[in-house]
Amino acid sequence: MKFFIDTANLDQIREAQDLGVLDGVTTNPSLMAKEGITGHDNIMKHYVDICNIVDGDVSAEVIATDYDGMVREGEALADLHEQIVVKLPMIKDGIKACKYFSDKGVKTNVTLVFSAGQALLAAKAGATYVSPFIGRLDDISTDGLNLVSEIRHIYDNYGFETQILAASVRHTMHIIDCAKLGADVMTGPLSAIEGLLKHPLTDIGLAKFLEDFKKGN
Ligand code: E4P
Repeated sequence: MKFFIDTANLDQIREAQDLGVLDGVTTNPSLMAKEGITGHDNIMKHYVDICNIVDGDVSAEVIATDYDGMVREGEALADLHEQIVVKLPMIKDGIKACKYFSDKGVKTNVTLVFSAGQALLAAKAGATYVSPFIGRLDDISTDGLNLVSEIRHIYDNYGFETQILAASVRHTMHIIDCAKLGADVMTGPLSAIEGLLKHPLTDIGLAKFLEDFKKGN
């Protein structure tokens, strides 16, 4: 399973990259705003900065909600850097734009996916990635992981190559469960990735090894 970090914070992206396990980055307009990145030129520069830190795919989301606008913005984003993946909302024109970009060989990420039917449409339109938002489904008392499982089942039935990018991951158990269900990618915060490191028995065991080493030396 690929690990993407879901942030526009350059320090956190560097930290995850330094860990050696990072395969890419996802951003969205809210994450960019959270870092205080505003205005067209600053936003475009920030995407390039992110691409220069990581080796893998970097999702950059369009703001337009009409087909022509999405195509125009997506082309400008794709021209920025070869690692850019055009992120499109799961709406009618987003699916049309996804088909346009996949026919051109431009990578896409269909975002804001909350149902198996939406994921099926995204795959039919040739999306590179489909992003079911598991945390936001959990937030409204709906099993987000079940959606990942449904999409896996449907994609496997027909050999769709669209990668399931489990998004809105909030904690380490989401990552582990996504891995069990066969998600191709997960995107989450640095805290969830680093949470995978932790086990008290590791800390206790290491402390004991070091203590015993000191006794004999
Ligand atoms: C995915 O690409 C989105 O940026 C993200 O995962 C949304 O997560 P949230 O529900 O924690 O905002």
